[in-house]
Amino acid sequence: MSGSGAELVVVANRLAFDRVVEDDGSVAWRRSPGGLVSALMPVMRANHGAWIGWPGDTTDETDGAEIEPFEQDGLQLVPVTMSTREYEEFYEGFSNATLWPLYHDLVAKPEFHREWWDAYVEVNQRFARRAAEVAAEGAVVWVQDYQLQLVPQLLRELRPDLRIGFYLHIPFPPAELFQQLPWRRQILEGLLGADLVGFQLPGGAQNFIRLVRSRVGHKTQRDTILLPDGREVRARAFPISIDAESYEEMARTDAVKARSEEIRTVLGDPRVVFLGIDRLDYTKGIFARLRAFAELLVDGELEVGDAVFVQVATPSRERVDQYRMLRDEIDRLVGRINGDLGSIGRPAISYLHSSYPPEEMAALYRAADVMVVTPLRDGMNLVAKEYVACRYDDDGALVLSEFAGAAAELRQAYLVNPYDINGMKAQMLAAARAEPKERTRRMKAMRKTVHEHDVDAWARAFLDALRGT
Ligand code: F6P
Repeated sequence: MSGSGAELVVVANRLAFDRVVEDDGSVAWRRSPGGLVSALMPVMRANHGAWIGWPGDTTDETDGAEIEPFEQDGLQLVPVTMSTREYEEFYEGFSNATLWPLYHDLVAKPEFHREWWDAYVEVNQRFARRAAEVAAEGAVVWVQDYQLQLVPQLLRELRPDLRIGFYLHIPFPPAELFQQLPWRRQILEGLLGADLVGFQLPGGAQNFIRLVRSRVGHKTQRDTILLPDGREVRARAFPISIDAESYEEMARTDAVKARSEEIRTVLGDPRVVFLGIDRLDYTKGIFARLRAFAELLVDGELEVGDAVFVQVATPSRERVDQYRMLRDEIDRLVGRINGDLGSIGRPAISYLHSSYPPEEMAALYRAADVMVVTPLRDGMNLVAKEYVACRYDDDGALVLSEFAGAAAELRQAYLVNPYDINGMKAQMLAAARAEPKERTRRMKAMRKTVHEHDVDAWARAFLDALRGT
């Protein structure tokens, strides 16, 4: 940042480092595990980059104190603090109980509250002010995701000299759903403050362009929106990915290999290990997937001991009602399936409500014969890509929902409609019974895709397009 400001600024709800209070009361900063941070790190360093975001706790925990910007691993970190009320109304409320279900096909019912909207505007203004303060003259500012859709316009008003990009990590819904939102026009106008608006899939970009035409009344030409003041906004798809090479390297280590063997032994050396790894979110389709597995056991197609389902559900947004209800539903379902179908020391489902470090995930990926990724709607789903990246042995099978963004690229997966339980059962069986040659053919093709289109290629494509606009 150095007095003259940062040449490249990332604005994301979460900071690249989480603020952690250690047992002795001291404060430490831990790099957040996401691929976005690893992908942007080199380009941020080379461009004197700054990362603006929320450090994960509220001002009530920091005694109301603002946290000063600081440097870590060659990156300027600019924390934006949030009060407990803002956490409840902006993060849990408008972001995750209004926008999240609305943008995911109304899988749950969105709640519309005017005070949540007010908090959304307030917090977006704070992020925009912070970005305006730290960006150098003519800098590139890249705003991330659904929590910050008003930032592009707010920032442009403060700093018209900037090049502003926006990327939406979740699906952008069709007009028929989006127009339920009482603040639909404000959101569209917020996004139009950017020079380039990026989506996971071409369909999201088309939904956005169509809405801008019908609701805001601007002229559009293919992927370009023509504003009355002569400015142009582009809307295009840039499917996100992972750091495939790092995952593969991790999976190849002796420690991960040993751990994956240990996992299979602890599971009782079953013939087939099915695996699900998800944030505990109602969009992920965990309930239907476990029911499909249980039915395969009841039908006699699979046997307990011979097959096991390992389901990891990472705790997420735990105080939001819909998430609390989901946790209870899954707890009950797993209890019932294991109670009805398991035997002593051999549950049908090994259920873990916990988060694990990447090495443990890599060991699980290596241990799994069939990875089951069946969201009802998902922007991309990086777990599917991580599984593929870790299978350097060209083995393992992926069952993948048609409604995950990843299905557009991973065509050789066993694709399923997650609402069709019989179809899901058939594909899970086909994946479990596939000949080694067939598994290898599919996995090889998917590995090529994931390695060629990694997160670095994604970030470069977006930033090149933004600089070139
Ligand atoms: O998928 C959208 C996303 O915001 C991811 O970027 C993030 O990893 C996940 O949802 C969880 O988000 P959070 O814990 O910040 O609510």
